[in-house]
Amino acid sequence: MNPGPLVGHSVNTGIVVRNIAEKVFWPVREYIGKKKSEIVRYSKTVLLKDGRACIIRNGTERDAQGVWDNFVLTHGETEFLTTYPEEVTFTLEQEEAYLKKKEESNRDAELLAEVSGKVVGTAGICGINASEKTRHRASFGISIAKAWWGLGIGRALTEACIECAREAGYLQLELEVVADNRKATELYKSVGFIEYGRNPKGFRSRNSGWQENVLMRLELQPEEGKNVCPELYFKGEKNSV
Ligand SMILES: CC(C)(COP(=O)(O)OP(=O)(O)OC[C@H]1O[C@@H](n2cnc3c(N)ncnc32)[C@H](O)[C@@H]1OP(=O)(O)O)[C@@H](O)C(=O)NCCC(=O)NCCS
Repeated sequence: MNPGPLVGHSVNTGIVVRNIAEKVFWPVREYIGKKKSEIVRYSKTVLLKDGRACIIRNGTERDAQGVWDNFVLTHGETEFLTTYPEEVTFTLEQEEAYLKKKEESNRDAELLAEVSGKVVGTAGICGINASEKTRHRASFGISIAKAWWGLGIGRALTEACIECAREAGYLQLELEVVADNRKATELYKSVGFIEYGRNPKGFRSRNSGWQENVLMRLELQPEEGKNVCPELYFKGEKNSV
């Protein structure tokens, strides 16, 4: 999906988040050293349902503390995420390095939602595998602090990630969601994800026991003339569809 700048209510999705500023820069072609790369970049300000402004942008190493705090908080607030907060093993330095790597990547992106300078949610895309047969596929994940649910941040982050995935050249975005996670499944369906299978024993929760996971995928239409997969994978080879 490449919704482009959203002004007012989007007819495509019924989105109620409104864009109050055109994208600051999207896409941006940048150069790392002498290596020409297309870096996955995103920045956009949206107006939340309560009237507050929220910035959706790439996380940078300077956001490490905020992203780390959001990870620990959100993973303790819901049974719908893969890990428990005490399973976090990475340090702040590792988080910085992780965000820096993502920031410079042309195949992965870690986006965050920021309100009044605070990180209140994150979402990301990550290439599944760089091998020739699977390099068209990326996975998607999202977590927003509970206090900020229902304001439109989930939709804004999801749409931003879809846009990044398309821009990076992926042809399919994939996710797994707990079947009982109605908010998330409704959100995913509304942006075009379809179910392609179920894993009845996807999660084994401390509190709820077995949780069934729904496998969903979204096919992405590449931009005209665009390489279908990240340049990095193809080492410059043109592979338009
Ligand atoms: C799931 C999650 C990302 C949704 O984010 P959010 O900011 O609350 O969602 P939004 O306010 O943008 O709402 C987006 C859509 O979700 C759906 N939704 C939201 N609340 C809902 C509810 N109570 N019931 C049903 N659908 C709901 C609607 O389709 C809504 O679209 P609409 O407002 O245009 O009608 C968020 O609740 C979250 O991070 N939960 C915990 C972590 C998690 O479950 N991550 C997903 C793992 S797969």
